[in-house]
Amino acid sequence: MFHIVTTDIFNRSLLDELCQLTTVIRTIAKSREGARFLQELLSTRRAMLYFTQPSTRTFLSMNNACHILGIRTSEIRDPEVSSEVKGESFEDSIRTFSSYVDLIVMRTPQPGYAARAAALMDSIPRRVPVINAGSGKDQHPTQALLDIYTLERSFENAGGADGKTIGMMGDLKRGRTVRSLCRLMCHYRDVQLVFISPPAFEMEPDIKDYLRGHRIEYSETNNLQHVLPELDAIYVTRMQSEYDIESESSSVDLARFSIAADELKRMKSSAVIMHPLPRGPEIHRSVDTDPRSMYWRQERNGMWMRAALIATVFRVSDQIRDAASRFTAC
Ligand code: NCD
Repeated sequence: MFHIVTTDIFNRSLLDELCQLTTVIRTIAKSREGARFLQELLSTRRAMLYFTQPSTRTFLSMNNACHILGIRTSEIRDPEVSSEVKGESFEDSIRTFSSYVDLIVMRTPQPGYAARAAALMDSIPRRVPVINAGSGKDQHPTQALLDIYTLERSFENAGGADGKTIGMMGDLKRGRTVRSLCRLMCHYRDVQLVFISPPAFEMEPDIKDYLRGHRIEYSETNNLQHVLPELDAIYVTRMQSEYDIESESSSVDLARFSIAADELKRMKSSAVIMHPLPRGPEIHRSVDTDPRSMYWRQERNGMWMRAALIATVFRVSDQIRDAASRFTAC
């Protein structure tokens, strides 16, 4: 594993290994000695966080995942303060970042830029790994990893993500998180996906083709009430209004694609509610105190999963696993 640009590089055994490593890191970090051990691992490494699209969770969790492993970070979050305003090409900017650091984590409003950065790295002598932290409407592979980890952890005593019926609701057309999660779900057995969206925001055909190609069953509906009782998990997303061309998001009756007290009553008692966040009105705040709401834990899981991913990229995962028994009973 070197660049993390798409979900295609993952298979089931790698996903299982990453989930297991995430739990080991999360557990080791609980003790002061464990946290110190982790911080020593990559303390000579540096990372660049290049985020030219707004981000709270992904930025902070990547930054803190680096710090957990001792990696020092620098950042550019506004293209206006980089030499791109002087006309420097994207490729030259990325090559410049790579001169100073050992890892580039990047988020852009355009699709395909992380792939371009990775291709550039593969063509130069000082090649550093590129992690895609969100590429426009296209992919968000590290979010999908933490979503998988959250599903596996939520159903720890019920067979994990295998065999589950998972609803995905909201703006499925432009939400990159659901697109990447669908691709990873193909590695799980007997999964059924239920897409719940307004007709104008249905899942794109490329993902449906991908699911058919991997023999993953899916169905589509715009009737949340009808499907709620059969779902083991519901992954709620917001309208991606920043991609609107003619304020098309505002025409959606969001009340039909939201979770509040009435919806909770119709859900299985063992169901889990997830959301990549930030949320809009699609999950009422009163839902936060319901034991089935998993999105705040999901958010924190992101930091641990990203630490596991970075540890794997830098090949210190075996060292962490070997040391686990020194710090924990795991
Ligand atoms: C998501 C994103 O940026 O795609 N947020 C995140 O990374 N946690 C979801 C969103 O913005 O709707």
